Amino acid sequence: MNSTTLQPIFRTENRPTTAVQRFRQPADIFEALFQSIQGGETHARPTLDLTPDSPFLPFLEIGYALRACLEKPARHDYLLQRLRPHLSVMIGSLPASILPMGMLPKLAPLPGFRRLEDIGDDEIHDWLIQEGGLIYGEMQRFELENYFDAVKPFLPPGGVMVDLGSGLGKVVMTAALTLPFIRCVGVELLNYRHRLAQERLVRLLTLARQGLDALPERLTLDTPLKLPSGVMTTGQHLLELGARIAFIENDMFKVDVRGASLVFLYSTCFGPLMDAISNKLARELPEGALVSTTTYPIKHPAFRLLQTYAPGTLSWTSVMIYQRVGPQMAQPASEARYLHQPDIDAWEARVREELVAMTGGV
Ligand SMILES: C[S@@+](CC[C@H](N)C(=O)[O-])C[C@H]1O[C@@H](n2cnc3c(N)ncnc32)[C@H](O)[C@@H]1O
Repeated sequence: MNSTTLQPIFRTENRPTTAVQRFRQPADIFEALFQSIQGGETHARPTLDLTPDSPFLPFLEIGYALRACLEKPARHDYLLQRLRPHLSVMIGSLPASILPMGMLPKLAPLPGFRRLEDIGDDEIHDWLIQEGGLIYGEMQRFELENYFDAVKPFLPPGGVMVDLGSGLGKVVMTAALTLPFIRCVGVELLNYRHRLAQERLVRLLTLARQGLDALPERLTLDTPLKLPSGVMTTGQHLLELGARIAFIENDMFKVDVRGASLVFLYSTCFGPLMDAISNKLARELPEGALVSTTTYPIKHPAFRLLQTYAPGTLSWTSVMIYQRVGPQMAQPASEARYLHQPDIDAWEARVREELVAMTGGV
């Protein structure tokens, strides 16, 4: 299939939902399962309200203290000094919410907000983790429906789906419910996000079990089953859901994806990593495997662009679908050569460059 493929008509918002009260048929189980994995998609990055009763006041206070340092070149050294111990919980160079387009209001700080000197290291650490939760977007349910409609025509039946940077796990679980993948695997670096994904998975599987037990007609491994995507499969799909989903806590550059038929990358926050990711995927993926990215393209010659979806069509961000072309490379698979956590010197050099570009000096 090439890039002239007919494009599906995309949804632009979530359908209204009502909580599932009874499990009369498998479709009720699917609906309840989808509902159970929603939430976490804060990618719209609204500007936070600065009012004395805002629930984000503690977050805003620390954000303001960091941003005040960012705005004054004479304070850049101090900003780097305070961020340096926390690289393991930071993705990218500088916390996104303190950047000019970030979530902090442009207003002056409230009286009583502390300076960075008065804020402890533990508080900065926790703030960065909270920031990750606010910044990292997840596609909403209708966007994921659009996404799987878009990749479906290119995918052979079965196969293994991998989400590199799987966050709270919604994409992986949606994939496992929507299409007959043999296995869906999420790889997440940050422990707390991996933990949240696992908690969601436990909830999902408990609910699936309750739904299956409540069906008036028992589903067997061979019962024909229509998936939410319209694809026909068998009861095995739901009965063995748990065996088809896995979350791995690791750096994506340490995990071998040689068996994958679809690699999903919510790469909007992976700008500086794109070349390293493309090299890894070129080394490991077999011919024909699909890779999708958001915002950033893959520029490696081992990938052919199949489709581009402009922002606001499939999702709020642009989405590109690629296919691995050419024979598999002989090189060894992943080793820990490109860790997410940049070495401190590389991080510092990049931040200094960005600060100069933003404010005219360090
Ligand atoms: C934008 S979120 C996407 C979450 C999920 N894939 C989704 O689309 O809903 C990106 C995730 O990638 C994770 N991440 C960043 N660098 C990573 C790395 N080197 N290895 C694994 N995960 C990483 C972040 O912690 C974050 O949870």
